[in-house]
Amino acid sequence: MLNLSTFVLRPLTAALALAAVSAVAVHAEDAKPADSALANSLNADDKTAEKDDKVLAAAAAVKDDGGKYRDKDGNPTFHVTNNGKKVDWYLYSGYRRYHAECHVCHGPDGMGSTYAPALKDSLKHLGYEEFIGILAGGKQDVSASEQKVMPAFGDNKNVMCYADDLYVYLRARAAGAWGRTRPGDKEEKPEAAKTAEKECLGG
Ligand code: HEC
Repeated sequence: MLNLSTFVLRPLTAALALAAVSAVAVHAEDAKPADSALANSLNADDKTAEKDDKVLAAAAAVKDDGGKYRDKDGNPTFHVTNNGKKVDWYLYSGYRRYHAECHVCHGPDGMGSTYAPALKDSLKHLGYEEFIGILAGGKQDVSASEQKVMPAFGDNKNVMCYADDLYVYLRARAAGAWGRTRPGDKEEKPEAAKTAEKECLGG
């Protein structure tokens, strides 16, 4: 008989295992000098972006993993170039997924609502693993007089297969690297993203 919990948890386990592997790979290269091609070039005139230098510095990319950018800890991050006119694939994809699955509760552009917190602020302190954990397992504020529930998306492939994309978009919002606009020009969809998407959706 099919074991439901195995089926439900498999995509997440695979994603976490992958993240762990790439984290190790990046650590081995920590000693390399910063690569200027990885630096962000933001739109200084976008007042909706609310730049946060501390979050921005922590999110600095140290590696281009074939179109997926990684910070010094190996976690996914954004890459904004051309004075804020061009974004990496994951930021773009995350923008679209966010506005399909999350904005009804968390408000457009991660701005928050009366029901759910502003994720542009949450991602200033939430780490990658915490974010993935909440996304998969949900969260409930038991102390609140009104019961407000973050649903568990662990068995929703339209969310979990794009968990990194969502993280990258919201991290860019938290850092103020991206404002309240729809991304236009973007980097090409990486081969790795195509493969991972196919395996995740089909597995
Ligand atoms: C049905 C409404 C609803 C939907 C849809 C929803 N959330 Fe939530 N989310 C909530 C609520 C309510 C909370 C606050 C729960 C709490 O604090 O106990 C929350 C909390 C969170 C948190 C923790 C924030 C913090 O500051 O600790 C994260 C991260 C999060 N949601 C991400 C997402 C993402 C990403 C999506 C889209 C895939 C999403 N949520 C979709 C209602 C929702």
